[in-house]
Amino acid sequence: MIQTYNKNYTYPIPQNYFLFSRHMETVVSGIRSTGKLHLGNYYGAITNFLEMQNQYRCFFFIADLHSLTTHPTPHDLQSNVRQVLVEYLAAGIDPEKATIYIQSDVIEVAELYLYLNMNAYLGELERATSFKDKVRANPDNINAGLLTYPVLMAADILLHKATKVPVGKDQEQHLEMARTFGNRFNRLYKQEYFPEPYAYNHGKQLVKIPGLDGKGKMGKSEGEANAVYLSDDAETIRKKVMKAVTDSGPTEPNQTKPDYIQNLFDIMKVVSPEDTLQHFENLYNRCEIRYGDFKKQLAADMISATAEVRERIHAISADDAYIRKVVEQGAEKAHESARSTLKDVRELIGIRKF
Ligand code: TYM
Repeated sequence: MIQTYNKNYTYPIPQNYFLFSRHMETVVSGIRSTGKLHLGNYYGAITNFLEMQNQYRCFFFIADLHSLTTHPTPHDLQSNVRQVLVEYLAAGIDPEKATIYIQSDVIEVAELYLYLNMNAYLGELERATSFKDKVRANPDNINAGLLTYPVLMAADILLHKATKVPVGKDQEQHLEMARTFGNRFNRLYKQEYFPEPYAYNHGKQLVKIPGLDGKGKMGKSEGEANAVYLSDDAETIRKKVMKAVTDSGPTEPNQTKPDYIQNLFDIMKVVSPEDTLQHFENLYNRCEIRYGDFKKQLAADMISATAEVRERIHAISADDAYIRKVVEQGAEKAHESARSTLKDVRELIGIRKF
């Protein structure tokens, strides 16, 4: 019997996760294995993972298949997957509460991607902002995987029939596309099978952490100096922050901040206590701010916000046996969920063994 999604059912949040997990709302999210995690990944995605693992049926994976669009070497691919996994664990994602897995270990996702691709149209894929950005940045590598990136992402989410997807603001359009593909499938096969997934942030608004270069979001591809990584040591963080662009300061009270200054205040909003932020806002508004002091404080707060995670990265990274166990256990649990979806999907589409 195919279990369809009931929009009117209110999902209970039980005490015993494993016993009742099938009836809870499902959460799925992933991070590409393209290198070390930065504060954007941490505040955009991971802090939500930590909160959600206590309340929902969670799947957090490492999107190694997505990272193939940029053609990593086999060595880089492997070490990046391991790095993200270690950093998930160091940040506090608990394999006893959430299913942590590597995307390519659950290859059913590739089959679902194939089916969803049959109903994803060139026009809508070409209009995706992320695709247009990638084309602009890498005109020599406009591969089909880049074009259908949002379809693979929809497959990741629909594979476990997720309704909540903790991501940063940059992924909002991909979530809209995942809903489109899921709803299109439902209409085509006349079943309310896939629920609608929505982007989620515990602070209600999706987050965009700016980079230190004053130009845009913090990102792995925007250059080393733009991003502060969870694994950066205190001295590296201090140096990066002190180099961030500022100017000679406001010339009138309550002046609008230029983007590169606003960005630093936006980062302070997430790493520093409220009264620290307020203190520097007041100094800025009275034209009394000294950017040297401001950046010193920002760096100190970043260092203490990431200190525990940084320490755990080193400890976990040395524990091969533990890492292997987490990967095996995660693959098994994710597999079970994926297998059941694919069985239904094949049946709905009409793919049968005679
Ligand atoms: P990726 O690897 O680019 O980023 C991983 C997560 O970090 C968030 N993020 C940010 N949030 C706020 N400010 C920033 N500067 C910032 N930079 C990155 C991203 O929003 C994301 O939540 N397509 C996804 C990976 C993926 C996925 C999925 C996510 C593949 N399949 C299914 C959710 C569900 C990506 O490229 O993330």
